[in-house]
Amino acid sequence: MGNEFKGEAGHSADYFGDTRDHWWNRDYLALLAKRWRLSEVHEALDVGCGVGHWGALLGEHLAPDAWMIGVDREPQWVAKATERAAARGLGPRHRYVRATAEALPFGDDSFDLVTCQTVLIHVPDVMAALREMRRVLRPGGIIAVCEPNNLAHAVMADATTFTGPVDELLAMVRLQLVCERGKAALGEGDNSVGQLLPAIFADAGLVDVQVSMNDRAVPLVAPYAAPWQRPMLEEMIDFAERDYGMWSHDETRRYYLAGGGNEADFAGHWALALRNVRRAADEARAGTYRLAGGVVGYCVSGRKALTRP
Ligand SMILES: C[S@@+](CC[C@H](N)C(=O)[O-])C[C@H]1O[C@@H](n2cnc3c(N)ncnc32)[C@H](O)[C@@H]1O
Repeated sequence: MGNEFKGEAGHSADYFGDTRDHWWNRDYLALLAKRWRLSEVHEALDVGCGVGHWGALLGEHLAPDAWMIGVDREPQWVAKATERAAARGLGPRHRYVRATAEALPFGDDSFDLVTCQTVLIHVPDVMAALREMRRVLRPGGIIAVCEPNNLAHAVMADATTFTGPVDELLAMVRLQLVCERGKAALGEGDNSVGQLLPAIFADAGLVDVQVSMNDRAVPLVAPYAAPWQRPMLEEMIDFAERDYGMWSHDETRRYYLAGGGNEADFAGHWALALRNVRRAADEARAGTYRLAGGVVGYCVSGRKALTRP
């Protein structure tokens, strides 16, 4: 099925494909659910729900009578999430409304669980969002978030990149770092905020702060027969065919310039990035692309104290 939303104007549209369904090992999610005591959760809030991938996965682990509200700042994702939940028979338990993380339209102490996945990397002020998430959380309830360090991926070279010129690999790290700084400078979030979150949780007054890492790796080895390998390959090839790196050309350029880079350097870096993306796609088509995969993704949780600190 691929990604029916790719190329749409909405936030993260290029990342709402089938691959998102394969980001987690189910037994690891069950372990997280046990650690987070999700079976005790009756009322949950999924912040920045997108089209509902994360909420649906986590929803399976809540109490049998639980319901979940997903909020997103983009109205079209609220509509799509509602449609997708209805199509999967989740309608009555999963509802969606338009709202931002920074201004949640709920009273204090409303939810047992407030969660998000790959959302805090996009908000300009993580502490402001977290304080708002904590406000609507009941005392004793849990905030549980999953957010990556995307910068780490710039040094996760595949076999070809690893043996290529050192300067080219460093150029890719530089491109990612300058762009991530630019994204943050533009108020569009720290793309690698995952590793900073335990400290931010503590600063926000949450207690029992814990962190673990997503144990999912996505090995790509021919003949790519596993059902979760096809979407990964298709996404790689699709990105290459659309000249797409981590972001589109225009977005990457905008971030690069905002991060202090200049036009001349950008042209060279972008050409190199595209060459790598196209080479990987060619290898995927030929069945020679080989990679262990995996992301540096942090699962961070903290509870609201029973008595206010
Ligand atoms: C990468 S997607 C993640 C979607 C979903 N959490 C998942 O994992 O499938 C990020 C989502 O956060 C939403 N978003 C970004 N900033 C937001 C904010 N300040 N408040 C609410 N939603 C936000 C975007 O519209 C987008 O749908």
